[in-house]
Amino acid sequence: MRLVILASGNGTDLQSIIDSVEEGSIPAKIAAVISDKEGAYALERAKIHGIPTYCLSKKDLKDRFYRELLRIIEEINPDGIILAGFITILNEEIVNKFQNKIINIHPSLIPSFCGKGYYGEKVHKAVYEYGVKYTGCTVHFVDAGADTGPIILQEVVKVEEDDTPETIAEKVLEVEHKLLPYAVKLFAEGRLKVEGRKVHINQFK
Ligand code: GAR
Repeated sequence: MRLVILASGNGTDLQSIIDSVEEGSIPAKIAAVISDKEGAYALERAKIHGIPTYCLSKKDLKDRFYRELLRIIEEINPDGIILAGFITILNEEIVNKFQNKIINIHPSLIPSFCGKGYYGEKVHKAVYEYGVKYTGCTVHFVDAGADTGPIILQEVVKVEEDDTPETIAEKVLEVEHKLLPYAVKLFAEGRLKVEGRKVHINQFK
């Protein structure tokens, strides 16, 4: 099982996958890390671990961005693609070519606080302002919509009285670092079966 990981930022979610692969709990190889942001620390993390990196600037490539992204992914020909804090919404062509093979992590309990415009700290600010008592994170397969694909795993995080958007972000991220590698492990072990909107998890390996 060869994986490509797409990341735009600090790359702590990416790091959680790298660590689990290196510990041997995810039976897969990370074939490459691709970023849409120059200078993303995620690229440095990959380099430190000897993983090939690619950086595609949307600003420079403009309407060639998706073509170039698909070209690189097809060249690598991975068994799965993991979006670990990737800000760009993939286009239909890429999503259709890798149906049920693209996994995303989102820092809220989908279908709340998700979709276009909800990413990173914007999510936690919206959660804070709405005054919900619980938030969390969701790992899901990617379909042609924004954060609408079948849900693999979710975990709840309690919002406390003295929480701020920043402390909510910290608490959610800590949970992400367990949930994402576990979802990738289930995927790599072939234990996920998608039936319509439902993802069935084979508990017996
Ligand atoms: C994570 O919280 C991830 O869930 C979120 O970006 C952060 C990346 O952190 N992803 C999205 O908002 C996607 N819609 P990281 O760069 O430290 O891994």
